[in-house]
Amino acid sequence: MSVVAEDKKTRIPGFVGRTTPITVDHAEGAWVYGTDGSKWLDFCMGIAVANTGHCHPKVVKAAQDQMGKMIHAQMNMYLQQPMMDLADTLCEIVPGNLDQVLFANSGAEAVENAVKLAKGTLRRPGVIAFQNAFHGRTHLAMALTDSVVHYRGHMQPLVPCVFHARYCDPYHTPAGLDPTEYAIDDLRRILRAEIYGEDVACIVVEPIQGEGGFIVPTSEFMHELRKIADEIGAYLVIDEIQAGMGRTGKWFCHEHYGVTADVVTIAKGIASGLPLAAIVSRKEIWDKVTPGSMGGTFGGNIVACAAANATIEVMKEEDMLANAARQGEKLKTFFKGLQQTYPAIGDVRGKGLMFAIEVVKPGTREPDAGPAKAFVAEAVKRNTILMSAGSNGNCVRFLPPLVITDADMEHAFGVFEEVAKVVF
Ligand SMILES: Cc1ncc(COP(=O)(O)O)c(C=O)c1O
Repeated sequence: MSVVAEDKKTRIPGFVGRTTPITVDHAEGAWVYGTDGSKWLDFCMGIAVANTGHCHPKVVKAAQDQMGKMIHAQMNMYLQQPMMDLADTLCEIVPGNLDQVLFANSGAEAVENAVKLAKGTLRRPGVIAFQNAFHGRTHLAMALTDSVVHYRGHMQPLVPCVFHARYCDPYHTPAGLDPTEYAIDDLRRILRAEIYGEDVACIVVEPIQGEGGFIVPTSEFMHELRKIADEIGAYLVIDEIQAGMGRTGKWFCHEHYGVTADVVTIAKGIASGLPLAAIVSRKEIWDKVTPGSMGGTFGGNIVACAAANATIEVMKEEDMLANAARQGEKLKTFFKGLQQTYPAIGDVRGKGLMFAIEVVKPGTREPDAGPAKAFVAEAVKRNTILMSAGSNGNCVRFLPPLVITDADMEHAFGVFEEVAKVVF
């Protein structure tokens, strides 16, 4: 394990937690190398960001070539080809008839802009988000976030007029109840008791809740949201920031459900690690935005756009979505097998390589964070990078790159088997 130089570390605020003790030197594909020469298998990829693997040569070359030509082509100054090409490609791969894209820097900023788009163009104040959601750490994004109190506690007041409805969580739906109905009934209650539908600008939803514990809703739930948004004339905003860009085996997770959104937010994996975000919607909606009300200095950075174009190209060339789907099935089969031996693995869920296990007290569905955290720590001791998730901290998430090989997956299974023996 690499030893962090204590004197240097003290310049970074202490609250910034780290899953590993690595001081990184470089990385390639699924592997990260420490300054001390140590080698680590990355099943986190900077939290679902380096989907094409660390430093994919074609992404690196595209960024390097662009760096040599121009680094900052501010969007209010010029048109730039990489951004226009990227907007074209995104409109092709995002489901529905969404035909214009605004670029920003981060996930939270994309969510902010999506909500501003809805509020500003519909002139309505209300937003419906979901319990257990995570949408980022800026003030509006915090107001939508509802997974763990540390994301918003002590920061109130937040942006008002945000209502949290119950998310569809099949594993935790009380026995005998239908998970879709159980969730949708709560949304209908909010519209009956708390806000008029005509005051709601948008419903913002993750197609799989990420930080909240990789909770996969039913397809019917997503369709009901579409129906309700249409009924009340609000926009359906689907936040694909963690689940998008091929991670679930499709370009965007909501393709699995066959629903379409009015606005889609994308970030994380879009540019293989360069900061970039996209808000995809329809021209007729963007046309109603007051000029000057959205934008920013760095949004749609030309180097990041060039890297994003290369990211999508290599994903297509190397059929990475198919690999994500195939390797995801292997992960699921592996953990379903392990679940037979260890009843502490209460649920095994996900789509493609957005995959998690939920750890519970054996024989119950009661969250048990201790062994989940121990699982992550023991994997790290074996040079395999993992992270926990879930509002109770009792899920372990597995986010290998979409280029993960059979050999690396087998190596990881060996580690997970050993770790399970130790912690469960
Ligand atoms: C679904 C979702 N939305 C928004 C965000 C915020 O993105 P960022 O950290 O880039 O602001 C995240 C980050 O984890 C996310 O998972």
